[in-house]
Amino acid sequence: MNNKRVSVLGLGSMGFTIAQLYLDQGYEVTVWNRTPGKADALVAKGAVLARGAGEALRASRVAVMCVYDYRGADAILALDGVAAAMDGRLLIQLTTGSPQDARDAEVWAHRHGAAYLEGAIQAAPDQMGRPDTPLLVSGEKHVFDEAEPWLKVLAGGIVYLGEKASAAAAMDLATLSTIYGTMLGFVHGARIAEHEGFDVAEYGRIVAGIMPTFAGFLQHEGSVIQSGDFSISQSPMRISVEATQRILQAAQASGINTEFPAFAAGLFQRADAAGLGGEELAALIKLLRA
Ligand SMILES: NC(=O)c1ccc[n+]([C@@H]2O[C@H](COP(=O)([O-])OP(=O)(O)OC[C@H]3O[C@@H](n4cnc5c(N)ncnc54)[C@H](OP(=O)(O)O)[C@@H]3O)[C@@H](O)[C@H]2O)c1
Repeated sequence: MNNKRVSVLGLGSMGFTIAQLYLDQGYEVTVWNRTPGKADALVAKGAVLARGAGEALRASRVAVMCVYDYRGADAILALDGVAAAMDGRLLIQLTTGSPQDARDAEVWAHRHGAAYLEGAIQAAPDQMGRPDTPLLVSGEKHVFDEAEPWLKVLAGGIVYLGEKASAAAAMDLATLSTIYGTMLGFVHGARIAEHEGFDVAEYGRIVAGIMPTFAGFLQHEGSVIQSGDFSISQSPMRISVEATQRILQAAQASGINTEFPAFAAGLFQRADAAGLGGEELAALIKLLRA
């Protein structure tokens, strides 16, 4: 078995980058995409274009799939000849999906004789292939061990989350949650900045500067939740109750949009009313559990 051979199914911006990275590392790369023209530049660099998804799967032990969503992935797996080609393959599914999507896909792959790994890419295409590129991976340990050299081509920052195939998708949802929560606050902050006549690019630079400290704080709050000890260690809840009220009142006073601070202040007020004001900030999770 040639250990530098791979098939890549799906050549959108991420799949194309993935195929490119394997070519750069001297792999024999077979590619397939629903719209075959997207393979032209890869074929020019030495990739082989398979005539069908089944043919692409049969070309290598290890196949990486990365398409828009699981509807696309399922459509590919349902194509003629694909199920029959799965026997003996190792499918690394890098299409973003839900934990249930991952569980179903693993069952399907096993039923057709294939080993399966689920991965969640936590980077943009031009950030792939770097020593610190984050990639969450889950699935059977022996499959992960076999696939690790292929994964390392794509990302130096692999986080293996254990044998449950669903783990990578679940953690992807959790980290995306952090990103979108931060994004909402960031955009509200941008409205404050522009309304007050500040340079919003400068605001972005200031935010970037506080991020490492903020990241350390989030890590601490995660440990607090895991420990179950919510006695005050860094940040009392009541500070955030007051801060979010202040952001809301300032938005009301200046007439800018209040949706984000109203949501945040509302949650913290309920936490305060539930008697959590004298606990560590992370005790907010008790409200979400109720
Ligand atoms: N781009 C990013 O920044 C980024 C970051 C992290 C994770 N991801 C994840 O990576 C995955 C791919 O993203 P992308 O940016 O490469 O998307 P994209 O550029 O929009 O490419 C979509 C790919 O999916 C294929 N596709 C969609 N529906 C299909 C179907 N029904 N049957 C067959 N093929 C189908 C497309 O084929 P055609 O070419 O024929 O349309 C194309 O290859 C997504 O799950 C995304 O969440 C992306």
